[in-house]
Amino acid sequence: MRTRLVVGNWKMNGGLASNAALLDRLAAGANSLARGTTLAVCVPFPYLAQARERLQGTPIAWGAQDASERAAGAFTGDVSCGMIAEFGCRYVIVGHSERRQVHGETDALVAAKARAVLDAGMTPIVCVGETLAEREAKLTDTVVGRQVDEAIEALGNEVSRVVVAYEPVWAIGTGRTATPEQAQAVHELLRSRLVGAGAAQVALLYGGSVKAANAAALFAMADVDGGLVGGASLDANEFLAIGGA
Ligand code: 13P
Repeated sequence: MRTRLVVGNWKMNGGLASNAALLDRLAAGANSLARGTTLAVCVPFPYLAQARERLQGTPIAWGAQDASERAAGAFTGDVSCGMIAEFGCRYVIVGHSERRQVHGETDALVAAKARAVLDAGMTPIVCVGETLAEREAKLTDTVVGRQVDEAIEALGNEVSRVVVAYEPVWAIGTGRTATPEQAQAVHELLRSRLVGAGAAQVALLYGGSVKAANAAALFAMADVDGGLVGGASLDANEFLAIGGA
């Protein structure tokens, strides 16, 4: 059986004092999670040590928001998977639409990053999703299908070890959530591609303006196994309520 996974993506937010308060509130509230739900936070690199310090020994996992596909060397500003793994991270987000759009990351690079995360013993959360223009041009299935196929092809059998997050770009930070039916339609497509690759059990997360008020309806869909949560993960009560949905 697939279990529920709710991951917070802090993006480029936080500070030592506010993080401490947020992480401690999450740790204290971890007993309010729905049965079988795993909660995790993906924090900016400088706060990985703080996340480990505050969360180790609690049921809450932590991780990073990106990683280099390379192991080491003259790559100023990059952070390797080996470095991230040293901080006890379980997850690394790869291919978030903000990385694809702002930093020009391609499907091939995203797949290489996913491979590097797996090789370091962590779980990549591979993000896919269409823009508003692509949805309006009825290209959602083509775009999302291409993105997931690239990961399947590059990872082979190991694709069964990833998490996939469907994040329609038009729903991120806009307050405009996909309806549960819209999310399910794309998740069904993703599931069928993964089933074809022998990876039926991969957790499929929905992301894009998830909040406590809409989480239960989204999570009730057959192929929605949880959420990747941006803004609402910065508020402990809201995030815990999503984990309790
Ligand atoms: P919001 O929840 O703020 O829309 O962000 C979604 C997201 O991009 C999570 O990775």
